[in-house]
Amino acid sequence: MTIRRVVRLGHPVLRTVASECSKVELGSSEVQRLIDDMVETMRDYGGVGIAASQVGISLRIFAMEVRVDGFKHPGPTEIPLEIHVNPEVWTEGERSVMSPEDCLSVPGFRGVVARYPALRLKSTDRSGNFVEQRLEGLPAIIVQHEVDHLNGHVYLDCLVSSSERTTSFNQPRPGMC
Ligand code: NI
Repeated sequence: MTIRRVVRLGHPVLRTVASECSKVELGSSEVQRLIDDMVETMRDYGGVGIAASQVGISLRIFAMEVRVDGFKHPGPTEIPLEIHVNPEVWTEGERSVMSPEDCLSVPGFRGVVARYPALRLKSTDRSGNFVEQRLEGLPAIIVQHEVDHLNGHVYLDCLVSSSERTTSFNQPRPGMC
């Protein structure tokens, strides 16, 4: 596995709607290596999620993982590593959750985004197996952040409050994706 460089805001790939990943592509060693590298990169950068766009590949794939020992965030939420390919999301309720977020592609800033409290997620795993689940709380927020990336958006596009400079890692950091 290789740690890839995370592209930063200003790179056009972050403003591109990522392409569906076909079964053939997903089965290729190139895309399987990409997924391995995304996981390695997410862990190395200390993120809880990463989209393929963030390593410069415009395919609809993201990874998410929260390890309690590795991150300071509110509550004991631990999210095992999940890979989602071609995610489709149906949100529930209103944008009522005020979520303080930051992004590996926008280092040094954070800001509050209004997120949906829950959603239904349909995707496949890295083997192409169909997965459907309902998520709420932190996992639902991470999914919204990552699917935004795959649609060419970053959290700065929909801030509720102005961002502030991150000066301390002692604050809860629930949305670092
Ligand atoms: Ni992000």
